[in-house]
Amino acid sequence: MTETIRIETRGSVGLITLDRPEALNALNDAVMREVVAAAETFEADASVGAIVITGSDKAFAAGADIKAMAALTYTDVSADDPLADWDRLLAIRIPVIAAVSGYALGGGCELAMMCDTVFASETAKFGQPEILLGIIPGIGGTQRLTRAVGKAVAMDLVLTGRTIDADEALRIGLVARVLPADSLLEETIAVAEQIAQRSRLANAAAKRAVNAAFELPLVDGLAAERAEFLDLFATEDRAEGMAAFIEKRPANFRHR
Ligand code: CAA
Repeated sequence: MTETIRIETRGSVGLITLDRPEALNALNDAVMREVVAAAETFEADASVGAIVITGSDKAFAAGADIKAMAALTYTDVSADDPLADWDRLLAIRIPVIAAVSGYALGGGCELAMMCDTVFASETAKFGQPEILLGIIPGIGGTQRLTRAVGKAVAMDLVLTGRTIDADEALRIGLVARVLPADSLLEETIAVAEQIAQRSRLANAAAKRAVNAAFELPLVDGLAAERAEFLDLFATEDRAEGMAAFIEKRPANFRHR
């Protein structure tokens, strides 16, 4: 039983819906615990091949829970890093897509950026407004945003705290697609389902290789990619994928 999210399976897609409407899905400890646990449970389920994380029409998530944070002392946060469990999302091997409508601010924007890709509705609004609270982003905003959009734009967003709309987010490379609000979720789930039908092993390798571009110098990222590419030749799915192409039939991947 979860208090802050809803969990369901649609075909081969695990759907996590943030559900704290009274706080525009602000991210508190319970949300972090429940989202991470749900993602880990989906990953452990062989019938689930991809995850979609979404919110409501009004808010994907309006940030870390400011009311909960306001009560924390320096001793509290330094004794026990309250954001540490978010890092467990990065260890999820199946692809994770954020479907963002409405506000994705602060930790909400950071949660979207922790996903493998971001699809936004025309109503989505992104920003890192932490500076207005006398703090800075704490779940990767200064790092992932800068890698996603470059230093000048990241500095603009982090230093001004301004909010951008979906078109600007698309233009700067923060999101991959902008979709109509009323079809965002279904279209995102449809893409996730396609991904889930592919080889689980190739999907995991693709994630690791693209993430290596974020984390490693080019020469090391290229070496990581080559190792992943060569390793896939050991898989039955690679043999099936190539045989299916030659035999002009759809591939039936075993590890999916
Ligand atoms: N934390 C806690 N509660 C929040 C919240 C947040 N981040 N964002 C919104 N809420 C609550 C509001 O307090 C309000 O509750 P009450 O009705 O009990 O007062 C309810 O959600 C509805 O919000 P608003 O009345 O403010 O709705 P609005 O439509 O007028 O404004 C908004 C929407 C522009 C998103 C505005 O709510 C807002 O600015 N929210 C805060 C955004 C923010 O600063 N996020 C960064 C948080 S810090 C962070 O995320 C740190 C990090 O990197 C880890």
